[in-house]
Amino acid sequence: MIYLDSAATTLQKPPSVPQAVAQALATMTSPGRGNYGPAARASQTLLACREAAAERFRVGQPERVVLTFNATHGLNIAVRSLIKPGQTVVLSGYEHNAVTRPLAMIPGVRVKLVKAPLFRPDLFLEEFERQLTGEVDAAIFTHVSNVFGYALPMEQAAALCRRNGVPFLVDASQSAGVLPVPMDGWGAEFIAMPGHKGLYGPQGTGLLLCRESGTPLLAGGTGSLSRQAEMPPFLPDRLEAGTHNVPGAAGLLAGLRFLRKRGLESIRRQEAALIRQAAEGLSRLPEVQVYAAQGAGVQTGVLSFRMPQKDPGWVAEALSRRGIAVRAGLHCAPLAHAAGGTEQTGTVRVSVSAFNTSREITAFLAAMQALV
Ligand code: ALA
Repeated sequence: MIYLDSAATTLQKPPSVPQAVAQALATMTSPGRGNYGPAARASQTLLACREAAAERFRVGQPERVVLTFNATHGLNIAVRSLIKPGQTVVLSGYEHNAVTRPLAMIPGVRVKLVKAPLFRPDLFLEEFERQLTGEVDAAIFTHVSNVFGYALPMEQAAALCRRNGVPFLVDASQSAGVLPVPMDGWGAEFIAMPGHKGLYGPQGTGLLLCRESGTPLLAGGTGSLSRQAEMPPFLPDRLEAGTHNVPGAAGLLAGLRFLRKRGLESIRRQEAALIRQAAEGLSRLPEVQVYAAQGAGVQTGVLSFRMPQKDPGWVAEALSRRGIAVRAGLHCAPLAHAAGGTEQTGTVRVSVSAFNTSREITAFLAAMQALV
């Protein structure tokens, strides 16, 4: 199979990842609850994972790296911590349901959307600044759209927030492991990301980077302040109740180490080249409408396209029969589709990782040629 759905979950992992998961399963128990070997090893693994993430994402203290079960889990904590009933929030306009649905659960929240054309960071910043009026309590950004691979100008948007005293959170689900995500440099309140996409960890892992503490979603045992009825006030315990996904954290740690060795910039360049190849090939097919950025640095390893006469689900099925895995539909991000004008039909999405090759893109294009 040619796997082109890494925006959902990376399938090919560095071999060290499954090895670390298997070793943790066989040799580690509950962290922070015992001083015997397997419990201590679990605690050390969690700490090493936080330290590797803190280094990668420029977080001053490893305890501000909270281990979550996925990006959705982290985003739920972040939204609940940051947004209060009746507040006004600016959204970048590319948000996944993992942001908009938790937001919809908070009563009386008023949402303002940045409406700017796809792949135009200059116009995005102009419109975002226009939306930053005195009534705005917070902003939420999707660093990279999971539908279009559009990388928003996060550094400048963060600077605008800081200048206007607006707290913000970032969904880095598609950028972590591909673009720099400097938590303390940006000054975000929270940044959430999955472990199972660009960080090459297993499903069931995620990270929530916190500036300060937040509101727990779950309450329970932490192995700390056990006489107290409330959750401990300090991180990471306040936001991590119950036994951790230790094999997951061990795998995520191996994924983070792989990234350090391989280098972000080399992965970014490889993914951009593959997406450029796919976009150029698709745009030569007359029936195919491709959503590709013109300039460099605006699109990561995700590309959407449509065949106007065919349902995206049909195209994905037909590709699957030829051994090529892509995702079709609305990708859980109706706002992004509205921004790109694809809300009625959805799109077919191709997304790559550090393990895809130019040969695979050539085979995908040949399959598309045959379909057309
Ligand atoms: N949010 C993931 C995706 O875009 C699952 O496919």
